[in-house]
Amino acid sequence: MDKVTVLAPAKLNLSLDIVGLLPGGYHALDMVMQAVTLYEKIELEKSREITLELPGSPLKADEKNTAWQAARRFLEAAGIRGGARITVHKAIPAQAGMAGGSADAAAVLVGLNRLYGGPLSFCRLLELGAQVGADVPFSLMGGTCRVQGKGDILKALPPCPDCRFVIVMPEEGVSTPAAFARYDRMPAAYHPDVEALEEAVRKKDLSALCGAAGNALQPCSGTEETEHICRRLRQEGAITALMTGSGAAVFGIFADEAGAEQARRTLQGEYRQVYLTAPDTFGARVTEEA
Ligand code: C5P
Repeated sequence: MDKVTVLAPAKLNLSLDIVGLLPGGYHALDMVMQAVTLYEKIELEKSREITLELPGSPLKADEKNTAWQAARRFLEAAGIRGGARITVHKAIPAQAGMAGGSADAAAVLVGLNRLYGGPLSFCRLLELGAQVGADVPFSLMGGTCRVQGKGDILKALPPCPDCRFVIVMPEEGVSTPAAFARYDRMPAAYHPDVEALEEAVRKKDLSALCGAAGNALQPCSGTEETEHICRRLRQEGAITALMTGSGAAVFGIFADEAGAEQARRTLQGEYRQVYLTAPDTFGARVTEEA
C-alpha cells in the first residue's frame, strides 16, 4: 500500500466549562464534544521526506502546521526513516472552534499508521496527538465524549440524541490563545452544567441537552455578532444556539432535518459560511487505500 485517504470530522462543543489553571498557562477544561458530519479529507503517500500541500487554502503549509507536526512525531515515535506526501483538502473553517487543525493532525496520525503497517497502538496515537494540540485526542476518538484536563482526558459517551446542527461561521475568526487570555482578564465567570449535559446524552433527552448546553468562553470571546447569530438561529427554529470552542463559529441545535434545512437556506442568504450537519459516531478514519 502506497497511498491512503482519511476523513476527519469537525467537532462542536455541546458544553465547555473552565474549571481551573494548569501548569504552563493551559486551562483545565470540562467539556462535552461532538463530532459532526463535516470533514477534512487528507491524502497521504509514502515518500522520502515530509511535504505538505493545502490546495485552495490560504493557510501556510509549513513545519508549524499541525499536519506536518503530527507526521514528524509519528515518524520519530515509530522509528521510520521515510516521510509522507500530505495533501489536506480543507472543509472545516479555520479559527472557528471546530478543531480543523486538530482534525488534520488526527488524520495524519491514523493515516500514517495504516500506511506504515500499524507500528503504533491507538493509545500511543492519542499520546502523540496530545503533544500536537489540545483537541487532537478528541479528533482521534470522535463520536460524543466528555473531555477534561487540557483536552487529554477522554471518556466516550453513548451517541448523542438524533438532531441536526446548523453552523454559522462569521467572517472574522478567533485566535484560541487570545480567547483564553481574554477569559483570564474577566473577573466573573459563567459555568455551564456539564454533568447535566452528560446525563442528558445518556438519557437521549434532546430538550434536557439543549437546556444544559453552554460555553464559558462565550461571554468573553463572543462578540455582538455571536449573540446576533444565536438570536437568528433561535428565530429560525433552533431549540438553543451557542458558540463552539473559543469561537468564532456558532451553532443551533434542531430536532429534525426539515427544520434545520429551512434554517440553513434562510441563513445562507445572510452569511457566506453556513453548514447543515448531523452527529457523527467516529473520529478520523481511513476511507480508501491504494
Ligand atoms: O493546544 P492548542 O494549540 O490547540 O491550544 C491553543 C491555545 O489554546 C494554547 O496555546 C492555549 O493558549 C489555549 N488553551 C488553553 N487551555 C487548553 C487548551 C488550549 O489555555 N486546555
